[in-house]
Amino acid sequence: MIEVENVNKILFGGDYNPEQWPREIWEEDMRLFKKANVDIVTLNVFSWASLQPSENVYDFSKLDEIMELVHANGLKVCLATATAAHPAWMVKKYPDILRTNFDGSKRKFGGRHNSCPNSLNYQKFSTRMAEQIANRYQGFDNIVAWHVSNEYGETCYCENCEKAFRVWLQDKYQTIAELNRAWNTAFWGHTFYDWDEIVSPTLLSEHFAENRTMFQGISLDYKRFNSDSLLKCYEMERDVLRKFTPDLPITTNMMGFYKTLDYQKWAKQLDFISWDNYPSPQDTYSRVAMSHDLMRSLKGGKPFSLMEQTPSVTNWQPYNALKRPGVNRLHSLQAVAHGSDTVMYFQMRRSIGACEKMHGALIDHAGHENTRVFRECSQIGEELVRLEDKIIGSYKQSKVAILFDWDNWWAAEFCAGPTVDLSYVKQIEKYYEIFSEANISVDFLAVDDEFDKYELIIAPNLYMVKPQVAQKLEQFTASGKTFVTTVFSGIVDENDLVKTGGYPGELRQLLGIWVEETDALPPDVYNEIQQNGKTYASELLWDIIHPEGAEVVATHGKEFYAGMPVVTKNQFGQGQAWYIGTVPEKAYLEMQLLEICDELGIESILKPQENIEVSCRIKEGSEYIFVLNHGDGAATIQFDDEVMELLSGVVHAEKAEICMVAKDVMIFERKLRA
Ligand code: GLA
Ligand code: ZN
Repeated sequence: MIEVENVNKILFGGDYNPEQWPREIWEEDMRLFKKANVDIVTLNVFSWASLQPSENVYDFSKLDEIMELVHANGLKVCLATATAAHPAWMVKKYPDILRTNFDGSKRKFGGRHNSCPNSLNYQKFSTRMAEQIANRYQGFDNIVAWHVSNEYGETCYCENCEKAFRVWLQDKYQTIAELNRAWNTAFWGHTFYDWDEIVSPTLLSEHFAENRTMFQGISLDYKRFNSDSLLKCYEMERDVLRKFTPDLPITTNMMGFYKTLDYQKWAKQLDFISWDNYPSPQDTYSRVAMSHDLMRSLKGGKPFSLMEQTPSVTNWQPYNALKRPGVNRLHSLQAVAHGSDTVMYFQMRRSIGACEKMHGALIDHAGHENTRVFRECSQIGEELVRLEDKIIGSYKQSKVAILFDWDNWWAAEFCAGPTVDLSYVKQIEKYYEIFSEANISVDFLAVDDEFDKYELIIAPNLYMVKPQVAQKLEQFTASGKTFVTTVFSGIVDENDLVKTGGYPGELRQLLGIWVEETDALPPDVYNEIQQNGKTYASELLWDIIHPEGAEVVATHGKEFYAGMPVVTKNQFGQGQAWYIGTVPEKAYLEMQLLEICDELGIESILKPQENIEVSCRIKEGSEYIFVLNHGDGAATIQFDDEVMELLSGVVHAEKAEICMVAKDVMIFERKLRA
């Protein structure tokens, strides 16, 4: 959350690139911003080339003018450090700044986000730029946050990175013998005798596709190393900024479930989480909610910032559907419902050239305010003014948590076998969706977070069990809580080495089972889950399970393992540990997970209805209940208690029937019972 003294409402605005426009237009922008209730702009994201025409020449004249202009117009600023796209002259002079691709080819100037994170020249020039900017603009009292670079990501495989990787490995393993052990290099004659024999894992070495490697250990470590390398670039800029403005919060914009960066590790270095929400038109509302919840959870549930979304349309998807009337508002308030304290867009004015000229903006190519998108944005802006500071700083309360871990994501999907079709995030989504549709709040838990505040922890495909995690889960369960895990769990340790002695390894005692084998069949092949005389479909993976104390809840219906357990429940201390040894159809998960919630007294915020999403934020004795109608038709909702709708001020008596038109969002205030 952008916690600065003079921010007392949900900020509204977004990326503004006046440097792409002649000055005559700037005043008109200011008029339009006022009209739309815009109060924050993100400036300077891609201005490096114009700010630094050559190695020792800086030119801030335009940015000075822009800063003065937005200040004079009462706008707050999220000021970027401009380091996400290096200038052309810089790579001509210092080609090591350019990345090397996965296939070994060296990049040339072009695109953006293409600097090698281990290039000392990039590090030097980017921190110098951050320093120049911080030094020059530190006195502006309207800067509310620093925006370092932009959407860090991608991977570099250049020689500098290879060398830095060896240093990173030495630091991690200390001895080459320990590295050989951790990577199990006895396999296929990979024993290393010297650090400089190690090369980066690419198409030229261990990989035959981005996600297919012949040596998991090195590929997994390279993922970690690359994420750390980029994080180091962030930290270097952050440290410079902090020297000038110790009290201004610093962030970089994240991208939700972005595989390349271990955001749980990154989050520790950010003052607040900000992220860019670009769902594809096919995404369900719960898929979008899931990303918001992950982002919120990165900092223990503190409010985050929706840094970017499109007000209408993107340019980069295969088919760029317009956001239908009401959908921008729906998405904006959905972010707030899940913990955002800002509503921000990419972008304020649509550019006229290059690849984003077809990307939506507050101000369209028409150049005036008489557009559907402008009108819809203005309405949102006006509503955020009306909300005042009511919701700012409020938090969500979840009794259910889903364990999510980037190392597990990388490792599980690198694993050769049992199936190529395992998508960790898709499996996570299957579980998340059940709670989302039942109006039960979910947090995402990192393995090193506190477990105790939850009643129910679900860990789909916990393939990698890192040190102490099994013990933490045992303590959690023993204290009377419920733990659920699924097929393809408890297989390896943090080095991707199998825990021998029987699956699910370290989780075996907690779950009271032994998984002897796992079957994987092609898509469209189904088995059955048989439970209490009912049959449900199962797919993808099927475990052959022997109970070792666990109660058998359901059995396989077909194959040579028909009649053997597929779902088990183990009493462990005061609590219970469930194992779901396959990928069940949705109806099964819904039945079983909601039954577990029922037993634990975990209730829906509001009675579930199709296409109606409900999310609750709490603050100072009040609950703010967001009801979002994602459907195409009207809906009627009902509360047991008296509630006040915040945007209209209307008080609804207990049990009153409240009508919502399609795509509407209502925010209800309900007093918390003492
Ligand atoms: C990203 C970037 C923006 C812009 C948008 C377009 O989120 O951060 O600069 O390119 O995508 O959707
Ligand atoms: Zn590199």
